[in-house]
Amino acid sequence: MTAFEQRVFSGIQPSGTMHLGNYLGAIARFVEMQSSFSCIYCVVDMHAITTWQDPGQLRKATREVAATYLAAGIDPTQHIVFNQSQVAEHAELAWVFNCVARVGWLNRMTQFKDKAGKNQENASVGLYAYPNLMAADILVYRATHVPVGDDQKQHLELSRDIAQKFNNDFAKSIKETGHGEAFFPLPEPVIMGPATRVMSLRDGTSKMSKSDSGSDMACIYLTDSADDIARKIRKAKTDPDAIPSETAGLAGRPEATNLAGIFAALSGRTVDDVLQEFGGAQFSAFKSALSDITIERIVPIGEEIRRLMDDRKHIDAVLADGADRAREIAAPVYKSVKKIVGFIG
Ligand code: TYM
Repeated sequence: MTAFEQRVFSGIQPSGTMHLGNYLGAIARFVEMQSSFSCIYCVVDMHAITTWQDPGQLRKATREVAATYLAAGIDPTQHIVFNQSQVAEHAELAWVFNCVARVGWLNRMTQFKDKAGKNQENASVGLYAYPNLMAADILVYRATHVPVGDDQKQHLELSRDIAQKFNNDFAKSIKETGHGEAFFPLPEPVIMGPATRVMSLRDGTSKMSKSDSGSDMACIYLTDSADDIARKIRKAKTDPDAIPSETAGLAGRPEATNLAGIFAALSGRTVDDVLQEFGGAQFSAFKSALSDITIERIVPIGEEIRRLMDDRKHIDAVLADGADRAREIAAPVYKSVKKIVGFIG
C-alpha cells in the first residue's frame, strides 16, 4: 500500500454570509487541525458560480470568506489560504474526473436534487458536475483528511470513489510511471464534535443555511451584533418542556437537541455535560446562558472580519501568496496525472 503524506484540505463557497453552522461544522475544526497537520483552506469561487453570482458580490464574498478564515485564527503563513480560481490545476483535474466519475454516481447526489429543485433541466451543468470539482480540489493536493459538516459526507464518499476508480483504471500506467500501487489517497472525512449539523433557529428539522432559511431570524451570522445574537436566541423556537438532564430526553425534540449541541460545541463540552448542568431548567434560563457564550465567541470574530474587510490589499495579498504556494503542490501532481492518463507535454 502506498503511504501518503498527511495533509488537510477543505473549502467554503463564497455565496452568502457565513453563519454559525459554517463556523461550528467547519471553520472551528479547521483552526484545531492546524496544530497537527499541514493545512490548505480554500475559498471555492468556482463552486460558487454553479448558481449565478453577481460579479461584484462574488469578489466581496470571496474576500469575506478569506477574512473569516483569518479572523477565526487560521494562520496563512504556516498554512495555505487562497481562492480556487487562481490555481488552474483544480479545473484541469476536474475535467479528468468528469471522465472517471459515472453519471449514475452523480445522479445519486442529494445536494444536487435539493439545490436544483423541481426544475432540474434548467440547472447548470456545473451544478451537476460540482462533486467532481470538489474531488479535484482535494486530490490535486493528494490531501488525506477533509474536515467538513455532515452535509458534505456524500460528496466526500464520491471523492473516495473517484480516487479509487482512477487508481484502478490506470493501475498499469501508475506503476509504469513510478508511482507504485496507488496514485491518489482515499481522503477521509473528518466530521467531528457536537455540532456537525447546526439546524435553523426557527425549525429544528431544517439545516441552518442562508439560502434555505427564508428568515434572518433562523440564522446567526458571524458578523451579527451582540444585540442581534441575543434577540435571535431569545426568539429561537423551543418546546414547552424543561431541559432534560440526559441525552435520552432529547428524543423527538429537534429544537432542544439543536440548542444543546450548539451550547456544547461553543463551550467545548459534551452534550451530556451541558444537560447535567441545565437539566430541569426552563428554556429562558438556558437561552440566556447560550446567548452569553455565543456572543463571547462570535462577536470578536465578526469585529475582526469587519476590520480585515477594510484592508482589501492585505486580503488580496494573502490570497495571491496562498495561490502561489498551492500551485507549487498542485502543479507536479497534475503533471503526473497527465503522464498517467497519456497526455503528451
Ligand atoms: P459550504 O460552502 O456549503 O459550507 C462550508 C462548510 O460549512 C459546513 N456547513 C455546516 N456545518 C454544520 N451545520 C450547518 N448548518 C452547516 N452548513 C454548512 C459544510 O459542511 C462545509 O464543511 N462543497 C462544499 C465546499 C467545498 C469543499 C471542497 C469542502 C468545495 N470543495 C473540498 C471540502 C473539500 C460546500 O459547498 O460547503
